[in-house]
Amino acid sequence: MRVLVTGGAGYIGSQTCLELMRKGYEVHVVDNLDNGSVEALARVQRLSNRDLKFTKCDVRNPAALDEVFGYFLPHAVIHFAGLKSVSDSSVRPSLYYDVNVGGTAILLGAMERVGCNNIVFSSSATVYGEPQYLPCDEFHPIAPINPYGRTKVMGERLLQDWSCVKPLHRRAVALRYFNPVGADPSGEIGESPTDAPGNLMPFIAQVAVGRRGYLQIFGNDYNTIDGTGVRDYIHVVDLARSHVAALEHIRELEPFEAVNIGTGCGLSVLQMVSEFEQQSSNKVNYQIAPRRPGDAAEVWADASKAKRILGFHAKLGVSEMCRDTWRWQSANPNGYQEA
Ligand code: NAD
Ligand code: WQD
Repeated sequence: MRVLVTGGAGYIGSQTCLELMRKGYEVHVVDNLDNGSVEALARVQRLSNRDLKFTKCDVRNPAALDEVFGYFLPHAVIHFAGLKSVSDSSVRPSLYYDVNVGGTAILLGAMERVGCNNIVFSSSATVYGEPQYLPCDEFHPIAPINPYGRTKVMGERLLQDWSCVKPLHRRAVALRYFNPVGADPSGEIGESPTDAPGNLMPFIAQVAVGRRGYLQIFGNDYNTIDGTGVRDYIHVVDLARSHVAALEHIRELEPFEAVNIGTGCGLSVLQMVSEFEQQSSNKVNYQIAPRRPGDAAEVWADASKAKRILGFHAKLGVSEMCRDTWRWQSANPNGYQEA
């Protein structure tokens, strides 16, 4: 089966390419390398011992997409390409809408022109906004609180409208990731942020490796187990497996499905710090800082729909998340930049 992966040179995309190639799928990546790395793709080839095709191309370029789709003729697309910073999305909203919504519309057009009817889309738990109840299931109201989240909602709506056009038997699955963390257990591929990381895990890793002095913990006065924020962290290897599960089941599904991808368990910032210290045998210095605007106290998934309709459940726990992040970070202190 041929799978075209947009954004495959990025963090989650490269891990998913590895999983796909190990499972025997033929993979073609399109990525504009805005936040991705050809070194990641080289390592994916080495780890899988298989060839991967790559075209440097922007998903907003219909002619370039047509060329790739025309000769690769994919059976399905996994669409990771996009911009993902919550804070940046408030500074450059038009760019976020252009890439995340416009890019998705242009991609669907290219699929239509070759009759490719199956797509798996990177959505996010951020579509739910401030949780009104926990665990968050897929019926939870959609109420994103930032432009990035709204682009993900619009991406989902677009896929919903696209998928129900009759009689084309189109299928679209939006995977709503909770908090992706970790790296490949080989230590060869992982998250390689170019700027200061906005997310917790890469920040912890950079403190542990000595690249940054200390972690700021955004608030310790939440009504949670220890006062710090609680999230549903999911290992990127599990996340990658969820995409393969979505592809394997896609023809049995309704035209459009939105599915939570998490573990169903919440962990606090301090629990993450403590586990990371254990796995890395390094101290993670931190200071308590004011709450970060827009942060919820607690978020975790009801992950039962993924189990029910995709046969997917997360297998890896917090020890593996911290162990593998540390293996990647310590072997590649500057990510792919020094490779
Ligand atoms: P990433 O930045 O590592 O990967 C995205 C890839 O898309 C990069 O390789 C980048 O070069 C490429 N890209 C960006 N704009 C492009 C364009 N216009 N044309 C072609 N390629 C383009 O991010 P990631 O963490 O791997 O996230 C992948 C997807 O998952 C994104 O859509 C993101 O919004 C979504 N997501 C991520 C998280 C997370 O915490 N990492 C959580 C929920 C959802
Ligand atoms: C986790 C916890 C912070 C950094 C974001 C996006 C979401 C999704 C995943 C894309 C919170 C605390 C963090 C730090 C800290 N991305 N924290 N110090 O905010 O749950 O989700 O990434 O779709 O859309 O919003 O993840 O890793 O930023 O924060 O104390 O330096 O760690 O307050 O409790 P978040 P995060």
